[in-house]
Amino acid sequence: MDDFSLLLATIEKLFKLHCGNYKEDYIKRRLLSRMNASGMQDYKEYHKFLINNPEEQEKLKNALTINVTKFFRDPEVFEVVKKELIPPIIRQKQRVRIWSAGCSSGEEPYSYAIILTELALFNKDLDALIYATDIDDEILKKASEGIYDKSALENLSESQIRRHFTARSDGKFEVKPHLKEKIRFSHHDLMSGKPAARNLDIVSCRNVTIYFNEKQKNDLAREFHEGLGMEGYYIMGMSEFLGKEVSPLFRSYRPLQKVFIKVNNPL
Ligand SMILES: C[S@@+](CC[C@H](N)C(=O)[O-])C[C@H]1O[C@@H](n2cnc3c(N)ncnc32)[C@H](O)[C@@H]1O
Repeated sequence: MDDFSLLLATIEKLFKLHCGNYKEDYIKRRLLSRMNASGMQDYKEYHKFLINNPEEQEKLKNALTINVTKFFRDPEVFEVVKKELIPPIIRQKQRVRIWSAGCSSGEEPYSYAIILTELALFNKDLDALIYATDIDDEILKKASEGIYDKSALENLSESQIRRHFTARSDGKFEVKPHLKEKIRFSHHDLMSGKPAARNLDIVSCRNVTIYFNEKQKNDLAREFHEGLGMEGYYIMGMSEFLGKEVSPLFRSYRPLQKVFIKVNNPL
């Protein structure tokens, strides 16, 4: 086995990650950036360094999984959104605005679009829009194309796949126009301090803040508070936390699913 293949085998074992899901180019780019950062000259040297350095293992794992996402990632969160959060909003105003912040390759905003389409079957006048933003233009292009391998659709039922995707001749599946037209994809840096939209009902910012420091996370919570309308919801990733300093801005709504509700006039 050559040095690169040996390193890949170790990465698969350490992170329980299947490297075949990624393009080789993608892995090589991320590896090179970690090798440069740690001053290692080649795959062999880096391999040895990685095995003996848990801190580097964490850094490499983060670098490799920076864009990782899934349709209906943590399905129980989407159940809460579908059954508890959106129906009262529809009853109240027939208008729903969601911001998927750090949307990566689009699986998250398309999951919300599927929920909204399914709820619209009973609410023909529903006016629904999802703002989907990311800092990475390459990944945003992939998101707006909406073309996925069959393996990406594992959390969807066969009938959802039939209703919302078109099977292509190359074996991939393309999101149908009725989902795409509910989403506005655009470039936005979450560290800019300005929300991408206002008067929002839900901000979904999940699994984005791994590289953010405390101050950046707190500024982000303030940005979302500003973007949300009255009693809007803020949904975080399962392993993310609201800092103490900004905790007066939100009240916990569903702690297990990391759903918070905006406090309109915090003290
Ligand atoms: C792991 S993915 C999360 C995707 C999706 N939210 C989910 O939970 O499945 C993290 C995404 O956040 C984006 N991101 C990181 N820093 C950002 C920033 N400052 N502004 C906007 N997006 C950012 C990355 O480009 C990446 O696509």
